[in-house]
Amino acid sequence: MLATLRTATVFGVEACTVQVEVDVSFGMPAFTMVGLPDASVRESRDRVRSAIRNSGFDFPAHRITVNLAPADVRKAGAAFDLPIALGILAAQGVVARRRIFDLVILGELSLDGTIQQARGVLPIAVAARREGAAGVLLPRSNASEAGIVSGLDVLAVSSLAEAVGALNEPGSVAAAPPPPPSLPFDDGADLADVRGQLLARRALEITSAGGHNLLLVGPPGAGKTMMARRVPGILPPLSFDEALEVTAVHSVGGLLPSGSGLVARRPFRAPHHTISNAALVGGGPQPRPGEVSLAHHGVLFLDEMLEFNRQVLEVLRQPLEEGRVAIARAARTAVFPARFVLVGAMNPCPCGFAGDAVRECRCTPQQIARYRSKLSGPLRDRLDLTVDVPALTPDVLETASGGESSAAVRARVVAARERQRARYAGDGVHMNAELTPSLMAHHCRLDRTGIRMLGTAVQRLALSARGYDRVRKVARTIADLAGADDVGGDHVAEALQFRMVL
Ligand SMILES: Nc1ncnc2c1ncn2[C@@H]1O[C@H](COP(=O)(O)OP(=O)(O)O)[C@@H](O)[C@H]1O
Ligand SMILES: [Mg+2]
Repeated sequence: MLATLRTATVFGVEACTVQVEVDVSFGMPAFTMVGLPDASVRESRDRVRSAIRNSGFDFPAHRITVNLAPADVRKAGAAFDLPIALGILAAQGVVARRRIFDLVILGELSLDGTIQQARGVLPIAVAARREGAAGVLLPRSNASEAGIVSGLDVLAVSSLAEAVGALNEPGSVAAAPPPPPSLPFDDGADLADVRGQLLARRALEITSAGGHNLLLVGPPGAGKTMMARRVPGILPPLSFDEALEVTAVHSVGGLLPSGSGLVARRPFRAPHHTISNAALVGGGPQPRPGEVSLAHHGVLFLDEMLEFNRQVLEVLRQPLEEGRVAIARAARTAVFPARFVLVGAMNPCPCGFAGDAVRECRCTPQQIARYRSKLSGPLRDRLDLTVDVPALTPDVLETASGGESSAAVRARVVAARERQRARYAGDGVHMNAELTPSLMAHHCRLDRTGIRMLGTAVQRLALSARGYDRVRKVARTIADLAGADDVGGDHVAEALQFRMVL
């Protein structure tokens, strides 16, 4: 007897459905799997056999053949367990076959027949709808995630026996509840907590308004980490489409907590400087997103930036340039989105206290120069704003007042982003940081003082061509925050102030 079911496999942040054919026929007991299953899928056999027996069903002492189609798509992961087990039961007539092909079915089985949470359910639900399935049958802890996609029946079960019940008696499994409301936007880290540091606060605002990259330079304890953590809170709230992308990446990375729906908060990722290339940009035989993709639409914070391996910093160039990461594998290339605001932090010198008002720096000028040269030219050029963050002395910390709240700053950021969106409608970009040279020529015209000032700066600061463009983009953002149509001398002057040459 033959049973045909549908499941799905994920590659990158895309999923496609896979047909599972199960044939149970007389012959020597055997269990074979064909159609490019990888090792993780082949392991399925043992789990499926135990799960079927331990759920009170008979495991057939016949020849079982499982074919996965299309044959040219590599199938990976443990979520094929449930469709294979249900296929074996359907081929024996234990499971009604009426609805089976309408559903995309997935779930990893434990030996006792319970079903584990799966990865990548959001992209799978998107694929199920796109490919015309009526619904999905999946682990209960993934129900809210699948519920984000409208127009799909979500049948959520926690064991093989329950899954059999859901297919044999439609209505026995209650439709999944609607996804929970998105997590609150506020994560308790507010810009109002930061005292003083007016210049750095301004840099955070400009960074957020134009989507620029920022480097904070200051001694330990100056509040660099504290400020970086507050960037997601002053970025505009995620749009629905952005939230879908963020949720999909976290889903494929296996980082969505059980029962969660749409991720509504902008990510903040702060990998340690010992991180490997693969963990930073993604990798593995079945590619998983790296930190740059988990930071998609949010903030990637590299604390102690110079401690990162030089090579690791170099692999950041592709995502910084293209907003995505492509991971080539024999069969095909996985693409993960990676559009983030980069915030770096570093000490001004090896001991950390160069320029400190109180503590004395013991480093020689050569040591300082060598230390700073560790930040490679190409990467340095991609940091649009650099700002000094001096440590506040205890009495200043005591008396300085807290500044504006994140909500107040965010309102200005949102207004500046709105201006950019309107100006770039139809240009394929959304914010100043993404401007190409030709778009810049069109949209970042400088007035006469601005041109003169930039000309002098090119000579005095030895700005590279790329550095020159970056100053113009930052000046454009400063003009947007001021509500100005043209970029003037004041805007250029302020942008240059954040172009400290390391
Ligand atoms: N400007 C500031 N306003 C309020 N608290 C501050 C400020 N600067 C530093 N602090 C306090 O010092 C702590 C250490 O700051 P941190 O962000 O870890 O410094 P850094 O990352 O520069 O070493 C913070 O958690 C905060 O309590
Ligand atoms: Mg820190």
